Amino acid sequence: MCGIVGYIGHKPAFPILIKGLKRLEYRGYDSAGVALIESSDLDIFKKKGKVSELEKFTETNSFKGTIGIGHTRWATHGEPNDRNAHPHYSHDQKLAIIHNGIIENYGALKTELTEKGYEFRSDTDTEVFITFIEDIKKSLDLNLEDAVRVALTKVVGAYAIVIMSVEEPDKLIAARKGSPMVIGLGQGEYYIASDATPIVEYTNEVVYLNDEQIAIISRENLEIVDTKDVPQEAEIHKLDLKLEAIEKSGYDHFMLKEIMEQPNSIADCMRGRLNANEGLLTLGGIREYAEMITNAKKITIVACGTSWHAGLVAEYIFEDLCRIPVEVEYASEFRYRNPIINEGDILFAISQSGETADTLAAIELAKSKGAFVFGVVNTVGSSISRVTHEGAYLHAGPEIGVASTKAFTAQLTVLTMIALRIASKKGTISDSKYRELLVDLENIPGKVAKALETDKTVREISALFKDAKNFLYLGRGYNFPVALEGALKLKEISYIHAEGYPAAEMKHGPIALIDENMPVVFIATRDSSYDKIVSNIQEVKSRKGKVIAVVTEGDVLIPKMADFTIEVPSTHEALMPLVSVIPLQLLSYHIAVMRGANVDQPRNLAKSVTVE
Ligand code: AGP
Ligand code: GLU
Repeated sequence: MCGIVGYIGHKPAFPILIKGLKRLEYRGYDSAGVALIESSDLDIFKKKGKVSELEKFTETNSFKGTIGIGHTRWATHGEPNDRNAHPHYSHDQKLAIIHNGIIENYGALKTELTEKGYEFRSDTDTEVFITFIEDIKKSLDLNLEDAVRVALTKVVGAYAIVIMSVEEPDKLIAARKGSPMVIGLGQGEYYIASDATPIVEYTNEVVYLNDEQIAIISRENLEIVDTKDVPQEAEIHKLDLKLEAIEKSGYDHFMLKEIMEQPNSIADCMRGRLNANEGLLTLGGIREYAEMITNAKKITIVACGTSWHAGLVAEYIFEDLCRIPVEVEYASEFRYRNPIINEGDILFAISQSGETADTLAAIELAKSKGAFVFGVVNTVGSSISRVTHEGAYLHAGPEIGVASTKAFTAQLTVLTMIALRIASKKGTISDSKYRELLVDLENIPGKVAKALETDKTVREISALFKDAKNFLYLGRGYNFPVALEGALKLKEISYIHAEGYPAAEMKHGPIALIDENMPVVFIATRDSSYDKIVSNIQEVKSRKGKVIAVVTEGDVLIPKMADFTIEVPSTHEALMPLVSVIPLQLLSYHIAVMRGANVDQPRNLAKSVTVE
């Protein structure tokens, strides 16, 4: 939800911090700031707005210090402005903190500290946190790491924090619970960040700090303890992230790059797992549990946003091919509605970032009641990938654009492979159908590449509708979740209100909205409900609605009815979402660009919602 970076070593810290914050800006950009120790002073520079504002604000400074911390914020407590920006000083200005997360008992702590005479410069929970540490340090006469450790046993909430002290200028203290943190290992230097993207250009050796672990970092040493001061093993991992994967590679926006790279990212998903020729489909994470999933009485899927839409497609596929009842739940609802979870239940958690707080909480709830939890995650080493019993990585590469595109099609690909594997084992589809679907799935990257060729047509349509006030997206069957996803894409990056609906549902209310100013996007590819959706298009046309239809190439009927048609290649109905979503991603992208919106970092949004 926000980005944190830290550095201690022998190079100037400031440029490393700024570059790191820019790589993390997709996680939140309400404000940015750094804390540095310069000639034995602890100095903080922070500014509302993006990292570029902070750079302007500090352009006359020349920083020499080789230790520092930085933060790019997505506000939860206290509006986005200079004084609520991180880092925050302790009351005596001897400590500085950056924080990703929420301290839920900050109110009680603030009351207690105010009664002790402490005053606060900001409205944030984070400043209360560092003042609480200062108070513990002074009242118990502890060194910094012990004061942090004691404080962590008393705060309630989620945190990834890095703290520095002017009195201990050769040390960073880092800790996490519920928010991500990666530590990069250099030669006589260490890098800290919310994820690996700011680290990968300096080292490929990292340690993923676990919940309730504290790292005490000097130039010579990394020591990890838990909140009981018990030493912890620093498990070193090798990053397989490449620098070019986090660059724009000549595209105007990360989102466009990620839309265009979907033929490759989908192929990467299947690499080493699917060989249609041999009729082979092997998914490491599933092998051991295939029996259990095959015999499941029900599967529950928890996710948020676009990942929830992927879950909805999975529901249709699992029920259609595996004949297993599936329930798709918004993680934020599931975790609080006292759901019925029995020992041995099966839960799939879908998450691109692997850090979404609501999804993490839903997983913990399900595990506490004895459910088996399988994660479908993109970010390697993320929290969800480490708390689930088993899982499958997407291998789609880092997704930087806040609006999820390639992760969505990668999620569909992995979930489809799982469903095919289970259906084949269960015998709910014939072997010939199984092999036919494997071939269709293996051909998807080529079909997606073909769908991307509609870019010019979509751009022309976008120009005509960029000033629309509302959009309706309608689809049936497998294309209904695609309608929801298309609507979410448009609203989250162009700020145009858009709703996705089952096409037949339009008659039960939304049809009242139809007039000549209402563009209606139909996902109307040829499938088992084709004739029905033709009637729905008629209903809209007879009320002067403007129809934009995504159709199967060669369709001759709908192009005569719709105002605009976008042709995509045909494929099996169950795989169609992988193809029909492509023009909708492009439509939202071009309309947003034409409206001058910030496509990669839409207002109010963050890439990973690590707070509830
Ligand atoms: C999708 O475009 C949005 N950025 C958002 O809905 C996202 O899908 C949601 O926050 C879930 O994120 P996750 O997949 O990382 O858990
Ligand atoms: N709760 C802190 C604040 O509002 C940190 C939010 C974040 O994770 O960005 O400043």
